[in-house]
Amino acid sequence: RTVYVNGDYLPDHEAKVSIFDRGFLMADAVYEVTSVLDGKLIDFDGHAVRLKRSLDELDMAEPCSKEELLEIHRELVRRNGIEEGLVYLQVTRGSDGDRDFVFPAADTPPTLVLFTQSKPGLADNPAARKGAKIISIDDIRWGRRDIKTVQLLYPSMGKMMAKAAGADDAWMIEDGHVTEGTSNNAYFVKNGTIVTRPLSKDILHGITRKAVLRLAEEAQMQVEERLFTIDEAKAADEAFTTSASAFVMPVVEIDGVALGEGVPGPVATRLREIYIEESR
Ligand code: PDD
Repeated sequence: RTVYVNGDYLPDHEAKVSIFDRGFLMADAVYEVTSVLDGKLIDFDGHAVRLKRSLDELDMAEPCSKEELLEIHRELVRRNGIEEGLVYLQVTRGSDGDRDFVFPAADTPPTLVLFTQSKPGLADNPAARKGAKIISIDDIRWGRRDIKTVQLLYPSMGKMMAKAAGADDAWMIEDGHVTEGTSNNAYFVKNGTIVTRPLSKDILHGITRKAVLRLAEEAQMQVEERLFTIDEAKAADEAFTTSASAFVMPVVEIDGVALGEGVPGPVATRLREIYIEESR
C-alpha cells in the first residue's frame, strides 16, 4: 500500500518517523478518519474543519492547506484503488530530536502521516444487519474529548473489555450519564424520539453525528439532545451509534439486556439507509 509521510508518497514499509516524535513519546498528536464510498470521500470538509479546531486547541501548526490535504486524500484513494474504506490522517507536533515535556520551538515542523484502509462491505455490512452488543464501562478519559487526540489506550482497553464480555463495543459512563462509545457517538430511541448527549468538552463532536441529526430532522424524526443514563438506554425501544468507520450501527443489547425485539430497530435501520444513500 502507498502511504504519505511529510510530502512523500512511499510504500508503507519505507515510511519512517523519528523515535523522538512527540506523537510517539507523548501522544502529542491529533487525527481524523474519513470514509470512502464508491471511491469518494464522505464529508471531507467536516473533517478538515474539525482537524483545524483540534490543532488550534493544542497550539499546533497546520501542516499544510486544506486544499493540499484534500489532494493528498484523493491521491491516496486513487493510488490504492480504494472503493470502500477509510483514510487515516495524523498530525503530530514533530520533534526537535530529544525527549522533553516542554513543547519544541513553534517553528518545529509538524509530522503529517496519511494511509488508507480498504474495507469492502463498509456500506453493505453484515455486522449492521445483526446489530452490536455493548457493555457499559466507566469513562476515565481526560477532560478534553472534543479534541481528537491519539490518546486511544483507554478506548482500546474498552473494546477489549467488551470482547472479553462477549460483546462488540462499550459505552462509557461519567457522573451517572453516558458520554459516548469507545469510537462512536451514542443514541437511544424511545417512543420515536432520538436521544443523544449534547455537544461539550465531554465528547467528540462527531461528523457523522452532525449529518445523521440533520437527516433525522429532515425526515421529521424527533431529536432530543440531553444527558441520559444507561438505564434509560436499556429500557429504550432501540439504540445505535454513529462514526465515520461504521456509519449508523444499530445496538441490540446493552449489558446483557436485549432492546425491543433484540434486532436492529426501524429508526436506526432507516437512518443508516438514508445516510448511505446521501453519501453516495
Ligand atoms: N472515531 N466519539 C469518539 C470517541 C470517536 O473516536 C469517534 C470517531 C466518534 C465519531 O466521530 P465521527 O462521526 O466524526 O467519526 C465519536 C474514529 C472513527 C476512529 O477512532 O476510528
